[in-house]
Amino acid sequence: MKFTVLETPLAVAEQAAALLAEVLLDPSRAPSGLATGRTMVAVYGCLVSLLQKAGINNLSHWRSFNLDEYVGLGPGDKRSFAAYMDLHLGQPLAIPPTSMLLPNGLAPNPTLEAARYSQQVQSQGIGLQLLGLGENGHVGFNEPPCGATAPCRCVLLSEATRAQNAEAFGGQLLAVPERAITLGIADILAADELLLVVTGANKSAVLRRLLEEPAQEALPASWLQSHPNCLVLADRAAANF
Ligand code: GLP
Repeated sequence: MKFTVLETPLAVAEQAAALLAEVLLDPSRAPSGLATGRTMVAVYGCLVSLLQKAGINNLSHWRSFNLDEYVGLGPGDKRSFAAYMDLHLGQPLAIPPTSMLLPNGLAPNPTLEAARYSQQVQSQGIGLQLLGLGENGHVGFNEPPCGATAPCRCVLLSEATRAQNAEAFGGQLLAVPERAITLGIADILAADELLLVVTGANKSAVLRRLLEEPAQEALPASWLQSHPNCLVLADRAAANF
């Protein structure tokens, strides 16, 4: 893993956006893998202004796969990741929802939906996979304990993760769905390139573990250590140890 520390969250977001733009604008690259969460709001904000300032308004070749979606939430629910993607990238860049793919949170059988999504992702592959980091070491929704070969599947979310994500649900942990569909660690490791973005003092403890401890099931993000092309971009607050 390559590890880069920049002073501010804005500097991190700008750098991540620049790396993403390069890949997204190259039609020869495989589709990008995208993530959600608060960290990515700044990244997508910078990406939108970078593309707009460059006058790039033809994104017809855009093709991306998101990591995860809550079971029970569809694009019509503003708390879904589909709605998040539409708000932060789809609307400002005029990307049709059909070009930004996610697992279908409303599928009647989430296990079958995970298998369908997995096939779809594997048939095209992922070029650059953008990742955020959960405070408990999850990536996507691969909750600990999780092995390196975990496939795309329907998972039960931990209380810690539901608490971390409660903000989008009026601060109520119980309102956060109990299940989600997530790409597995195996899918993530299959991407050509990984970009893990970590900002804020609340991520400092988990980032330190990721950099210092061996790969282990208790820390799902630690499997990224085995990827040949993984960049961790952190701000000073997260790397303050
Ligand atoms: C969430 C998502 C991840 C996200 C991570 C960090 O639970 N499933 O894809 O990257 O946790 O979230 P945040 O950036 O809000 O801290």
